[in-house]
This record gives sequence, structure tokens and C-alpha cells, in this order.
Amino acid sequence: MPSHLAIIMDGNGRWAQQRRRPRVIGHRAGARAVNRTIDFCLERGIAALTLFAFSSENWGRPQQEVDALMKLFLGALDREVDELHRRAVRVRFIGERSRFGAGILHRMQRAEQLTRDNRTLTLSIAASYGGRQDIAHAARSLAEDVAAGRLLPEQIDEQALASRMALADLPAPDLFIRTGGDTRISNFLLWQLAYTELWFTEVLWPEFDAHVLQQALDDYAQRERRFGLTSAQIAALAAENASQ
Ligand code: FPP
Repeated sequence: MPSHLAIIMDGNGRWAQQRRRPRVIGHRAGARAVNRTIDFCLERGIAALTLFAFSSENWGRPQQEVDALMKLFLGALDREVDELHRRAVRVRFIGERSRFGAGILHRMQRAEQLTRDNRTLTLSIAASYGGRQDIAHAARSLAEDVAAGRLLPEQIDEQALASRMALADLPAPDLFIRTGGDTRISNFLLWQLAYTELWFTEVLWPEFDAHVLQQALDDYAQRERRFGLTSAQIAALAAENASQ
């Protein structure tokens, strides 16, 4: 069972177009699929769920669609946060939040503040997020410490960089899922996905449900995660752990 799932929720627009409806109808149906996915994680004891809700590139979509998405986020924050808190979900946002309007910003802060001590599920919403931007921010933060004399260049290693990245306090995602048929990472968690198992499906996000998620988990359970080691080494490590 993965303990951290990361998902690119793709295909809302095509789902709506297939029904000759405006794209926003697809995003609304996508929001219901988000709720189903959270329910599933809570039922199965998955500790962390990270969702790509809006990329730094999505600001370039037609203004009407951006506005509709912002309205949807606002409504979802108003409707869902108290219920998530009741279910002990910790909600957080990663990405360039200064680009959001005051109403959304305020609700994001309230959601984070209210749910900060919850521990059943950590729900991280990537909003105005880009993986390259995440790496650039981490590099800048290290450079600032070097310039201020708080850090030596030779102290910069993978761990130092990792500690400045989004989701630094969580184990890396075990399983990445992308719906909608494209087989790309699209500037999602570039650093954090280094050893994550990738799973792709043609299913469009509004149709994503427990059955499809179970297919992904069944596939994941068959994988051998070697982290650069050999099969024999992994088997020896597993035997050692089992005997302890
Ligand atoms: C990708 O589908 C989806 C998005 C850009 C938005 C994701 C938003 C939601 C699932 C709605 C609610 C989310 C939260 C967290 C409340 P697309 O529009 O790129 O679809 P297409 O590839 O078929 O055009």
C-alpha cells in the first residue's frame, strides 16, 4: 500500500466536451472526483495525498476558464474545509500563492491554520505550482543563506536542497497517477518523483473512482521498488527487516 499518492487530474475539459457541455462542467465533475479520492484515502489509511489542481502554466488558459476555476476553488474551500477538519484531514497548499486573489488567499490560510494539527490524512493541493519553480525557489533560498554567511557552499547537498522544496516534511510520493491518457509529468513534482512509481490511465478525471484507484494500487503492489539497487539486495533487505 502506498503511503503517499500524487495525482495529475487530467481530462475534465474533454469529459465535458464529449457531453457537449462547457469545460467548467467538467471541472465541477472533477471536484466530485476529488471528494471520492479523499474518501478512499481515508478509508484505506493512505497518509498523504497530493493533487495537482492548477499549474503555474494554467494561468495562460482563456480568462473565462481561469475565472471559472477560481470560483470553483473558492466554493470548494467554503464548502469542504470544515468537513475535512471534522475528519481530521490536514490541508495545505503548495505553489506560488501570491498570484491568487485576496478571497482565495484568505481561505487558503484559514484552511491551513484550522487543520494544521490534524493527522489522519495530509492533503496537499498544488495550486499555481510548477516543479521547476519549486527547484528554483529552493536554490534561491540556499543562495540567500550562503550570501548571508549562514551556510557554506560545500554544505549544499541533496538533503539541503530537499529540505527547501515543497512537501519537505513528507516522505516522497510512492505512487503517481495521471488520468486522461497523456504519459507526461508536466512540471509536477520533478524533484520529489525521482523514485516514484508512475501509473497512467485513459480514464478521464471526472470518471475516476474507487475501482480505478484500486487498479492502480493492484498494479503498484506488483512492482519491485529497487531505488537503484539490485533485486537480490532488495530481497536481502526485506528478509533482514522481517527478522527484526
Ligand atoms: C485538468 O483537466 C484539470 C484542471 C486544470 C483543473 C483541476 C481542477 C479540478 C479537478 C477541480 C477541483 C479541484 C479542487 C482541488 C477543488 P483539463 O482541463 O486539462 O482537461 P483536458 O485535458 O481534457 O482539457
